[in-house]
Formats: sequence, structure tokens, C-alpha cells
Amino acid sequence: RSRVLSGAQPSADSLHLGNYIGAVRNWVRMQDDHDAIYFIPDLHAMTVEHDPATLADRTRRTVAQYIAGGVDPDRCTLFVQSHVPEHAELAWVLNCITGFGEASRMTQFKDKTARYGVDAATLGLFAYPTLMAADILLYQASRVPVGEDQRQHIELTRNLAQRFNTRFGETFVVPEGFIPPVSAKIYDLANPTAKMSKSTASPAGLINLLDEPKVTAKKIRSAVTDNGTVIRFDPEHQPGISNLLSIHSALSGRGLDELEQDYAGRMYGRLKVDVADLVTAFVVPFRERTEELLADPAELDAILARGADKARVIAGETLAAVYDRVGLLRPA
Ligand code: TYM
Repeated sequence: RSRVLSGAQPSADSLHLGNYIGAVRNWVRMQDDHDAIYFIPDLHAMTVEHDPATLADRTRRTVAQYIAGGVDPDRCTLFVQSHVPEHAELAWVLNCITGFGEASRMTQFKDKTARYGVDAATLGLFAYPTLMAADILLYQASRVPVGEDQRQHIELTRNLAQRFNTRFGETFVVPEGFIPPVSAKIYDLANPTAKMSKSTASPAGLINLLDEPKVTAKKIRSAVTDNGTVIRFDPEHQPGISNLLSIHSALSGRGLDELEQDYAGRMYGRLKVDVADLVTAFVVPFRERTEELLADPAELDAILARGADKARVIAGETLAAVYDRVGLLRPA
């Protein structure tokens, strides 16, 4: 069984629809026929200014949402990044083989510094991709199910794995991204050429999974679409309609061709109502299940403790091999 690994940052109270469709949904599908490792990258959530009073709570909320979305702690390894210190330790080693220019070319870093200003950017933000590479390489994962926005980070991870293997001897599996062709990028409903994102989306364009379902349905019915009349998957010319079709397809399991046929001759309003219904049917039980899980934080913590124990066995082995290969003196 090949190994998959992925995670979503605990940087908000709620995951958004893009996180679910682009990532979590695929984790759930992959957990049966892979050795699956899913984690909460809490150290990553510190790379932009964060509120220490909410981080722990958001970490639990994120675990609860993974489970509510179908991640099953009995069928995968589920843990919190900071519970396994090897992540930060391997990240240091990788920092020492990463070029400054190479890290400077990461588009997410460039976007964030453009937004917050270079003085607000920390070394942690700069080193974010090497910490992510450490997350993946520690477990020798061969597939990494993520959305389109993580493609460049996976590419860097591959380069670092190959570089390390060449310089210090075969150590790491070189991973591949698993980025589905449709729906790996869900767009902002109010601005359908921008990615749906917790940090940039206008409130009208962002669907938080834990929001009041009525509010969510209303946002979908008010989604910005173009002036055409034909319901067709054509992201370049009809980004708003194409985004709604992607969401429909992800949640209904129907192909885009099939949907285009079904909606032939129908109005945009019909599609919006149907997508609003599909999203509502998903979020209503999702929210309930999340609340149930959050009512028993001790149980969540126990799940995470078991996951960290399993993860540390693998992570410890990899880190020991790495320290040995790079020539560090090991304690007697
Ligand atoms: P994060 O927390 O920003 O997002 C979690 C996952 O959701 C995907 N995603 C989207 N997919 C489709 N449409 C969107 N609008 C959209 N927005 C987000 C992301 O691609 C991601 O898969 N660096 C990662 C977290 C991470 C990680 C890792 C992932 C840390 N270490 C190791 C995989 C392996 C991140 O910030 O994702």
C-alpha cells in the first residue's frame, strides 16, 4: 500500500468549501486503499501573525472537521504537527540545502509579502515550504492530495528530496502531488477569477463550512456569473458558471459533460438553486457532526495522542537516518 499524506492549516475557525472539495474529500477517498497520514499543520499557522488564545481551539476544531468530513482515525494516522518534533528538526536540515533564491521564488511567499509588506514577513513564512517538505518527506509519502495552490510547494519538495538523495545517499521517497484536474481550485463566489481563500475572499465569496446553512445557500444563489445564457464549463469565458459546475460535480459526483447536457436550455438561476441545495445537504450534517465531536474534547485529544504515537515511530526512523547521513554525531 502506497503512502499518502496531507493536511490543512488550523488558521480559521472553519474550513472552507475549497479546502473540502480540493483536499479533504480526496483524503477520505484515499484512506481505504492507501496507508494514509493526515495531520494538522499548526506550526504552519504561526507563519503569519496569529492569536495564541485561539490556536489550540482551532487545532481541535480542524481535527473535528476532518473527522466530520469523513477522515476516519481508525483507518488513517491522524495527529498534530507540533506533537511530533521531528517535523521542525527535519525542516532545519532541509533549510540548509535550500537556496535562498529558490525559496524566494515561491509564489505564495511573494503574494503574502506583497499583501502584508516585506517587514511583516517573517523567516517562518519564508521557510514555510521547507517545513511542508519536511512534513511529507519524514513519512516517505508517495502521494500528496492537495489543491492547485500547493503545486509549487510539492515541486520544491521533490527537488529537495532528489537533492538530498544525490548529495547524501538514497534516503527519501520522491513524492508526487495528487491534484485532480477538475475542482482542485474553487473560486471566490463574488469574484470568480480569484481563488476561494480564508484570507482574501470577500465575505460574500467565501463559504465557510461551519456557517449558518441559510447564509451559505444565499451566498451561492447570489454568486457572480457572466451575462451569457448558456450553462457550459468554460473557465476562461464563464468563470462564475464554471465554478458552480465544478462545485456541483464534486458534490453530486456527476461528470461535467453530463451536467452540461442536463442544464441545456436552462437558466443560470436553476443551477444556482441546485448548487445551493447540494451544498446545504452537505453542510447540515457536517456541522452537526463537528459540534458533536467538539462536545468531547478529551476524546479528540485521545485520538490525537494515539496518532502522534504512531507518527513518531515513522518520523523518528527517518530523522535518525537523515542525521546519520549528514554526519551529525549521535548521542551515545
Ligand atoms: P491550506 O491549509 O491553505 O489548505 C488546505 C488544502 O485545501 C486546498 N485548498 C483549495 N483547494 C481548492 N480550491 C481552493 N480554493 C482551495 N483553497 C485551499 C489546499 O490546496 C490544501 O490542499 N501548506 C498547506 C498545508 C500543509 C500541507 C503539508 C499539505 C502543510 N504541510 C504537507 C500537504 C502536505 C496549506 O497551507 O494548505
